[in-house]
Formats: sequence, structure tokens, C-alpha cells
Amino acid sequence: MKQSNRHGLFIVLEGIDGTGTTTQAERLADWLRDRGRDVLVTCEPSKGTVGRLIRDIIKPAADNLDERVFALLFAADRIDHIEREIQPAVSAGRDVISDRYVMSSLAYQSVILDLDWVRNLNRFAPPPDITLLLNAPTELCVERIQAAGRGRERYEKPEYLEQIRLNYLDIASTLTAEGRRIKVLDAAFGIEELHQQIIDLVRPLLHVRQPRMDSHGY
Ligand code: TMP
Repeated sequence: MKQSNRHGLFIVLEGIDGTGTTTQAERLADWLRDRGRDVLVTCEPSKGTVGRLIRDIIKPAADNLDERVFALLFAADRIDHIEREIQPAVSAGRDVISDRYVMSSLAYQSVILDLDWVRNLNRFAPPPDITLLLNAPTELCVERIQAAGRGRERYEKPEYLEQIRLNYLDIASTLTAEGRRIKVLDAAFGIEELHQQIIDLVRPLLHVRQPRMDSHGY
């Protein structure tokens, strides 16, 4: 793969199901491409072998596996995703936008599991340049999930989502206090307004030289 002197930006979108991370990832990618940047949009669970396995077993009909199995699978998929897609792209100067990353494991799996255990499991993962956490009232997200004809997957139950939303906000404060760049955005806004808020946060990063991704992990 062609190596470039400039490292690309690594941007992550996070939020409970129904906050619109997928739509905003695509909108942001279009905006960056319009500025001449080479962008990879990706997601977790990834499209790799472990990611595909996870997508099969979070379906409602799947076995009710122990949550630790999921935490380990999400972490395993993340190693594969970083090695196979994220690191090579960023090192080649491409911007990477990931729809979900480590904060998803911290917020979702800690509903049942110990947060420190989940965090330790993910220590290997290089932190993004910025994480955009989309936050909206759970009832609104549930309406959006139902309108899209979804809502039956393992983590889409309304009573689960409110706890995940609160976990996200707690984890965002902890990580921010540790020096991570995490911005919480109000995702109750319309798509266009939210997009504008996102580009206002990303624009200042475009000409900042990014540190090497492998400098320190989560
Ligand atoms: P998606 O809805 O964004 O495709 O993600 C699939 C589900 O997996 C979603 O409900 C969030 C959940 N998830 C976790 O519980 N932990 C993780 O680490 C990741 C990446 C996703």
C-alpha cells in the first residue's frame, strides 16, 4: 500500500441505536470528499469474519449467549478491524470515519459487565482523533428504530437503551477528563443541523498534523 507522509484523521461516531450515526458518517464523508480528501467509511461490528459472526448472533433468534462472549467478540472484531482496515488507511493518509468503536463496548457491555473489565479488554485500541457522541432522548430513538422496521436485536430493547445512553454520557466525561477529544452533540436536531454542528467540530482538525495512531491505546 502507498505510504504518505501525512496521517489521515480517525473520526468515530457513537450513540445509542436511532441517534443517526450511520447517516451522519455518510454526510461527513461527503463533506470531506468535497474538500479533496480520501475517506474510508467503516463500522463496527466490521464487515470482517468476526464482525459478520457478531451480526448473526445479535439477531433475536440467536442463542442467549453470556454477555462476556459478546464483549470478547467485539474486542476480537476490533483488533481485526484496526489491523485490516483502520491502521493501513490512516497510515496511507486516508481519513477514516468509523460508525462505532471502543466507546460502544464501554457503554453497551457495561450494562451487564464491569466497566473496568471491558475497558482493559480494549487497551490495545488506538484512540481516535475525535469521537462525536450523538445524544438524543431514548423515546425519540425508539420511535426512529420502530419507524425503520427494526427493534428486535439484542441491544435494541427500550429499557436497555436508556441505561446505555446514560453510560455513554458518564464514559464521555471520564474519558474527556483523561484528555480525550470527545464531543457530545444533541441528536434530536434534524439531519442537516446536526451535520453542520459536526463539520464545525471537524473543520479545525483538517490542517492539524495528527500524532501517530499507535502512540498510546485506550
Ligand atoms: P449497529 O446497530 O450500529 O449496526 O450495531 C449493532 C449493535 O451492536 C448495536 O446495537 C450496538 C452493538 N454493539 C455493542 O454492543 N458493542 C460494541 O462494541 C459494538 C461495536 C456494537
